[in-house]
Amino acid sequence: MNINFSNLQFQYQKYKSDIDANIQAVLDKSNYIAGEEVNNLERELEGFTGVKHAITCSSGTDALLLAMMALDIQPGDEIITTPFTFIATAEAIALMKAKPVFVDIEPDTFNINANLLEDAITDKTKAIMPVSLYGQPADMNAIQSIADKYNLKVIIDGAQSFGSTYNGKTDSNLGDISTTSFFPTKPLGCYGDGGAVFTNSNEYAEKIKMMRIHGQSKQYQHKYIGLCGRLDTIQAAVLLAKLPHYTQELVDRQQVAQHYTDALSDSVQVPVIKSNRSSAWAQYTVRVDNRDTLQAKLKDNGIPTAVHYPVSLHLQKCFQYLNYKQGDFPISEQASEEVMSLPISALITDIEQKHIISNLASY
Ligand SMILES: Cc1ncc(COP(=O)(O)O)c(C=O)c1O
Repeated sequence: MNINFSNLQFQYQKYKSDIDANIQAVLDKSNYIAGEEVNNLERELEGFTGVKHAITCSSGTDALLLAMMALDIQPGDEIITTPFTFIATAEAIALMKAKPVFVDIEPDTFNINANLLEDAITDKTKAIMPVSLYGQPADMNAIQSIADKYNLKVIIDGAQSFGSTYNGKTDSNLGDISTTSFFPTKPLGCYGDGGAVFTNSNEYAEKIKMMRIHGQSKQYQHKYIGLCGRLDTIQAAVLLAKLPHYTQELVDRQQVAQHYTDALSDSVQVPVIKSNRSSAWAQYTVRVDNRDTLQAKLKDNGIPTAVHYPVSLHLQKCFQYLNYKQGDFPISEQASEEVMSLPISALITDIEQKHIISNLASY
């Protein structure tokens, strides 16, 4: 048996008629940029998330840049974030010429540890950027109350967590600005690059809409230096075909995750989802001792795995200038040696899951 890590071909076959029809409609109209599908998708995303403004854009990375531009982040400003995330989180901060300041993670959720935040705050700190890693929001009440106390903004990197909840609200509807990615393998993915920014603030929304189109207030009138940061109409058309199925996909992903957890909790350290939260299950990530050997054994049996992420960001070469060293964030460093993600999607079959479980349970 050869298992697929994220099942994108199967997914396309399932929604093919709607996706093809939607793409064909864009081709027929040739409205490739800023077509009506983009606007329709944004209204649908607002309905789904409960947020006042959903503004689509070119990627999850650009969504973070747009969020920081809207908050007027300046060179030298400090933004506190987690070292245990995909590079884009801290890369976007650095691209703004701001300084990423890392704070270690909780060992169970892998998310930023709110108890350590206050020690990292200085008079240059402007914002906290928690990441909803693997699909589960961070401890947003604790983070928000520290942000309120020190007058900081909160930008959520929700690239992996579209549709997840914290105390019943989607994580797009928390913080000052929240973002997501529609990269193809994300829980809600398009078929190219894409992303979105969410906010309940009219002021930020207006600025983000200008920033994603070269800071333009009216055609050829440029109020700000912005980005070429729009979502293509064809990608909006793909997402419009997939979004109606997404609530069911989240239920199916939850079921797959629960099945893993029930079957594997005696063999490996399974993910912990806090009782006031739900995960979008971008990844189902376990902790194991002898990861290399296990990955090789699983590969031999047709089971692909992945490591999210093998190097903590404070130890990446591109962040050497921040002068962090090995040992600064021990929980994150240990996680980077032990985590291993298993195949998960709404479309993984029972037979495939049984095969994965029997290989892992006997390890
Ligand atoms: C945590 C996190 N932030 C940001 C991004 C960037 O998203 P994109 O690839 O759409 O730019 C990703 C994508 O993998 C991510 O996982």
